[in-house]
Amino acid sequence: MTPTILAIDGLSKNFGGVHAVQSVSLEIPAGRIFSVIGPNGAGKTTLINLLTGILASSGGKVMFDGRDITDSPAHLVAAAGMVRTFQNGRLFQRLTVMENVLVGAHHLLPQSVWSAILGGAAKRRTHEIRARALELLATLGLTDDAERLVGALPYGRQRMVEIARALVSQPTLLLLDEPAAGLNTGEVERLRGILEGLRAQGLTLVLVEHNMGLVMRVADRIAVINFGRKIAEGNPAEVRADPSVLEAYLGHGYRHADH
Ligand SMILES: Nc1ncnc2c1ncn2[C@@H]1O[C@H](COP(=O)(O)OP(=O)(O)OP(=O)(O)O)[C@@H](O)[C@H]1O
Ligand SMILES: [Mg+2]
Repeated sequence: MTPTILAIDGLSKNFGGVHAVQSVSLEIPAGRIFSVIGPNGAGKTTLINLLTGILASSGGKVMFDGRDITDSPAHLVAAAGMVRTFQNGRLFQRLTVMENVLVGAHHLLPQSVWSAILGGAAKRRTHEIRARALELLATLGLTDDAERLVGALPYGRQRMVEIARALVSQPTLLLLDEPAAGLNTGEVERLRGILEGLRAQGLTLVLVEHNMGLVMRVADRIAVINFGRKIAEGNPAEVRADPSVLEAYLGHGYRHADH
């Protein structure tokens, strides 16, 4: 049995009368790719926001790596080793790729006062993090872009920068909110290789995604959310064969031919 790294129990979020997440329970196995799928507005991003301290829950409990992190603030969740990317990229367009990646490590980098005191140690730390960032950029195919402004990069590459920024703090669990959105076929393939590579290194991935081709190929396990509720869960073959899943998508105008 793979140990559970993230245990979500009865998690809920209401926005006024909208039950965006309704008593969702999930057990995310360590070192695997767990995908969360569901039609637009199903509550997937809200779920990520609840887990990462962006939103306070209306009920439920979240245990991460043996710790109760329910409604913990974002910086504590990140420090505990759970980081995320955003559905609508949040990069600094007028900073370079390297600078954007280093933003992901800001809490690890020495503050100026401390650097003055620590001197050499602080320099070494900064150097270490830059080296790690360069390594990540290489893994993500961004070496040549390190000193380019993010705003000058094609969209697909910008999305890779977001992943690099999330990884620079060396998380144990990475939540990705639609990383394949807006990518062309070649870029999706590349993303697939990257996700598989991260899993091979032992990272746990939670993949929120609409690209079923990608999900069905990389996910070890899939949960399906519809109207805030979990309606199905299983391995790709089980989920694909579940009539309630097809119905959820068809009811929302899912175009099967696209996927
Ligand atoms: N801050 C908010 N205030 C009010 N309602 C919200 C808020 N955020 C999300 N919602 C509502 O909660 C529901 C779930 O939204 P959410 O963004 O989580 O869906 P999603 O599954 O991520 O959709 P998509 O696939 O389109 O990204 C929707 O009905 C949405 O309108
Ligand atoms: Mg979303």
